[in-house]
Amino acid sequence: MTVAENIQLAHTLPGSFYRDPALFEQVKEKVFATSWLYIADATVLSNPGDVFPFTLLENVLDEPLVLSMDKHGQVKCLSNVCTHRGKIIVEKPGNYRQLCCGYHGRCFRLDGRFKSMPEFKEAKNFPTAGDDLANISLKKWLGLYLVSLHPNFNFEEATRPIAERIAWMPLDSLEYAQEGTKDYYINANWALYCDNYLEGFHVPFVHPALNKALDFGKYEYELFRYGNLQIGIAEEGEPHFDIPPGTPDAGKMVYAYYFWLFPNLMLNFYPWGLSLNVVQPLSHDKTKVSFRSYRFRDKPFDRTVNNLENTELEDEAVVESVQKGIQSRFYSRGRFSPTMEKGVHHFHRLVEEMLEK
Ligand code: FES
Ligand SMILES: [Fe+2]
Repeated sequence: MTVAENIQLAHTLPGSFYRDPALFEQVKEKVFATSWLYIADATVLSNPGDVFPFTLLENVLDEPLVLSMDKHGQVKCLSNVCTHRGKIIVEKPGNYRQLCCGYHGRCFRLDGRFKSMPEFKEAKNFPTAGDDLANISLKKWLGLYLVSLHPNFNFEEATRPIAERIAWMPLDSLEYAQEGTKDYYINANWALYCDNYLEGFHVPFVHPALNKALDFGKYEYELFRYGNLQIGIAEEGEPHFDIPPGTPDAGKMVYAYYFWLFPNLMLNFYPWGLSLNVVQPLSHDKTKVSFRSYRFRDKPFDRTVNNLENTELEDEAVVESVQKGIQSRFYSRGRFSPTMEKGVHHFHRLVEEMLEK
């Protein structure tokens, strides 16, 4: 595929990347199974014994996992598949003393270690570490849980530039809010949705209302190793952050910080809080995007929240149109604007890097 390092010469990923089910199979294992994926808010577990089963990327990775909090308050992410003959262990969330399989009664401690099993006294070399539940890499960040099946990059390295940039925000006060929380289903490849998110180039063409609120001439891009940042600067009279002196963006009228974490997480910070967008592939040409809002405690919503849904619908329309366009016999691959499509170029390079590992 080869996306050149020099953006001035580079071509985009080929159209086949977005339409070929065989390439999508590679993306599943090499991108999604090796990256950090948002799974739930930390509020799903609050007391020792709380257990939360889920399927990681339904229809795509389809990996049955379970979060559990042991009696010391330690949270683990475990395989939710019984090490005996493979039944799903925990079927619904609840508070449990141990994790017991309903097929032949094998039980595990809340930290995943094998505990007991009927009719196995005569089994030799039993139990071994292989009878414990597999432990999955788990991180808690900004009140969110993220997991990785086989991490091939470091979570702290990936998130540090984000954490440092917004350290001055009242991040501990983020609370889930209903407004702006919604799922969207899109007939397009997940990466087309990301491509579109990663550039503000299209704003004047596609988003009339947002374009009025932003000073397009001052739009900024910054690349990180496993993510990037776009900064929208507010037009005069539009809502913006009150940024404390001595911090990196002091003096700027920031309308929004649009952070993206490879491969599928978008963290959009507005003066009222965070709009999280989780891009979940359902197949090579279907994607679910979950918008979840978290408001800074005591900060009211402002006008920026009104643009979220309209902007999303405008983005969906162009992305679905691109999905149709790249089926054409006459489209192979495109070029990048060296000033406005740095984020898209960086994304394509990262995808290639993961596919080649
Ligand atoms: S499959 Fe779980 S006890 Fe047999
Ligand atoms: Fe957009």
